Amino acid sequence: MKIILIGYMGSGKSTIGKALGLLVNIPFVDLDSYIEEKEKQTIHDIFKTKGEVYFRKQEHFYLKELLQADGPMILSLGGGTPCFINNEKLLFNNTSYKTVYLNVSVKELADRLLIGKASRPLISHINSLEEMQEFVGKHLFERTVFYNKSEVVIDANKDQKTILEKLVMMLF
Ligand code: S3P
Repeated sequence: MKIILIGYMGSGKSTIGKALGLLVNIPFVDLDSYIEEKEKQTIHDIFKTKGEVYFRKQEHFYLKELLQADGPMILSLGGGTPCFINNEKLLFNNTSYKTVYLNVSVKELADRLLIGKASRPLISHINSLEEMQEFVGKHLFERTVFYNKSEVVIDANKDQKTILEKLVMMLF
């Protein structure tokens, strides 16, 4: 089985995915890190030198590659992955995958992202908490329609231990 973690930037997909992988002994792959490794460039530099359209094409290509790989996997996506090209068709309503949306409030996301914005090209220009909350609020609203197609939606405003316990209960 493949477990796919979905959610906005800063929702904890990579952190939770890595911890869950160790807990249940299933290999963990982070799509952004996989793209960086394959393209030999950081996401930040791909956006800067080749643009978002190029990034979305590569993201689609590597997503397909990982979904087609044999064996179980815990895969964390980028925040935009389910919302571009026809990635939603690959991800949802497929019995081979369990899609999980890590749902985090706008306020919590904005707090986290103000600290972690440097590596994220879509928000690196935002300087105040107020601006971040406004941007995240609008952007998340547009994306929620995709995220909510996930089979499991989990309240991920909680601490890591609580989220992991819930995930293990719901998925295994
Ligand atoms: C993006 C999220 C990022 C990364 C890229 C675009 C997005 O991943 O894929 O910067 O469109 O939300 P994280 O969600 O891991 O930050």
